[in-house]
Amino acid sequence: TSPAAAHVRSLLASYPDFPQPGIMFRDLNPVFANAAAFRSIVDELVDGHHGRFDAVAGIEARGFLLAAAVGYAADVAVLAVRKGGKLPGTVLTEEYDLEYGSARLELEVGQLPAGSRVLVLDDVLATGGTVAATSRLIERAGYVLAGVGVVVELTDLAGRSRLGDASVHAVVSI
Ligand code: PRP
Ligand code: MG
Repeated sequence: TSPAAAHVRSLLASYPDFPQPGIMFRDLNPVFANAAAFRSIVDELVDGHHGRFDAVAGIEARGFLLAAAVGYAADVAVLAVRKGGKLPGTVLTEEYDLEYGSARLELEVGQLPAGSRVLVLDDVLATGGTVAATSRLIERAGYVLAGVGVVVELTDLAGRSRLGDASVHAVVSI
């Protein structure tokens, strides 16, 4: 088990029945609030796909925290994949189902050269709907999905099975 995984396992907080009954909410804020833990996570996410990506895409909201840091550490471009209705100009839209509810994610077109290899980052992989929608946005924009990096994968929800043959790196699988 990696240094990052040890940090996550000791600091991750879990809240049953939040934000609604039946949902076990995984709160990574205590992990990100520990500097050594956050650094180890960023280092592992960079190393997990080392040299195989030209950009990172962070998924609103919690993926933004990771994408900014990983993009800086790897010296690559940073894209923000946003919830619906927040981006101007020409945007691509994908609908997706969440563990609770449904929503839209959007990406502005034309930010990177065609064929750029994009690493998608988020905090939690649950049902996989969020990352799958983001992967579709990346490909529709003319980029290549380099891989997926998450801090926590919830294996019961089988999100990985919705991501085809994508290279998925999870710091911790629980
Ligand atoms: C949570 C989490 C992931 C997503 C995982 O985000 O941060 O992005 O759910 O779920 P899935 O794999 O079943 O799609 P949420 O949509 O709650 O929004 P937030 O990040 O803005 O808090
Ligand atoms: Mg999220």
